[in-house]
Amino acid sequence: MSSPVRMGLVGVGWMGHLHTRALRRLRDHYPDLPEPQFVIAADSLAGQEAEARSRLGYEQFSTDWREVVSHPDVTAISVTAPNQMHAEVCIAAARAGKHIWGEKPLGRDAHETAAIAAAARKHDVRTIVGFNYRHVPLVQHARSLIEAGELGRLTRVRGTFLADYAADAAGAFSWRFERAKAGSGVLGDLMCHVVDLLEHLAGPVHSLVAQDSITHTHRPLPTAGAGTGASHFAAGGGDLVPVENEDHVNCLARFDNGATGSLEVGRALVGPHVSMGFEIHGTAGALAWNFERMNELRFYTRHPSGGDGFSTVFAAAAHGDFSRFQPGTGIPMGYDDLKVIEASRLVGSIVDGHPYGPTFDDAERATAVVAGMEASMRSGAWEHVL
Ligand SMILES: NC(=O)c1ccc[n+]([C@@H]2O[C@H](COP(=O)([O-])OP(=O)(O)OC[C@H]3O[C@@H](n4cnc5c(N)ncnc54)[C@H](O)[C@@H]3O)[C@@H](O)[C@H]2O)c1
Repeated sequence: MSSPVRMGLVGVGWMGHLHTRALRRLRDHYPDLPEPQFVIAADSLAGQEAEARSRLGYEQFSTDWREVVSHPDVTAISVTAPNQMHAEVCIAAARAGKHIWGEKPLGRDAHETAAIAAAARKHDVRTIVGFNYRHVPLVQHARSLIEAGELGRLTRVRGTFLADYAADAAGAFSWRFERAKAGSGVLGDLMCHVVDLLEHLAGPVHSLVAQDSITHTHRPLPTAGAGTGASHFAAGGGDLVPVENEDHVNCLARFDNGATGSLEVGRALVGPHVSMGFEIHGTAGALAWNFERMNELRFYTRHPSGGDGFSTVFAAAAHGDFSRFQPGTGIPMGYDDLKVIEASRLVGSIVDGHPYGPTFDDAERATAVVAGMEASMRSGAWEHVL
């Protein structure tokens, strides 16, 4: 019998591979969900056909994404092309009644994200956005601890995504550094993850002030032959061209609940690799987590008998979807597992119609906060988040 989940893919790069691998692993971890089928993949680079067919297992391939959107057998589409394609592809997919797994930032700016979210609502399709860090079992545990009042009243909230993928000045000028293709730099690439994570844990940001900087003002074009699909991890060998968007953003914020804090992201930092995490302090306790040690949460709580201090909580069966992946505490999960959880939310929502988050509405909210940061970077003043 044909599966209700018949996938199309637009963009056969890193995320295109990962979405497909996650869907292929789905029933290893969620045997109650239907087996997805892989109908058609598209990439503007014809050279991706072999990858799409033989490695990822799509039955058909096209260099035109419209063939994915209009394909009568396709019921859901992964949109994993660069940011400038998100609005056009997602809006067309929603109009065609296809459910969508869209990668963040879901458009180049808040206007595009809002238009995408509105189209999905209008055409009543199920959506998931790639805010994968929400699915970390210990992030879910942290949220439960905060909701249960274990930290008391929240006083300070700090979120970071400090990365080194652009630390090498010889790194290629990929689409990520180009405004027409990516929109903003680290705001869209990394800050939207931090905003979503912090608001998921600590509630809405109320107002903020932000500053940005570019560390390497010029980068070499990709080596001839690499095409427009050059990875941001690759070294460039061509002419030097100006970087068009920000490498680093610092932001101070007030939250609706009265807590103050900061959100900081960078892609050209020497030292951290993927230092994505949070520190949250309350009147009764504190939490600290970093993706580089995804399976460990640091939790401080006061003990009446003394001996206060942070303790380390290891991911365990009681936390989020951990038991779908590992049999016991101390056996680590990894990044790709988060995408399997995300795939389960997409497929689950197609099966029962329930909008499991994070949805395109969550992406719209995150980009509204990011838009507030852009407004503050222009005005140099505090801005209210609308
Ligand atoms: N959730 C996460 O943690 C995460 C991580 C990395 C990237 N992303 C997001 O995923 C998206 C893709 O990033 P990536 O790292 O996979 O990029 P990538 O450069 O590895 O892959 C993008 C692919 O899209 C193809 N493409 C370009 N224009 C196209 C078009 N018009 N039609 C069809 N295909 C086209 C390229 O040829 C390339 O193969 C971005 O929006 C990015 O922000 C999310």
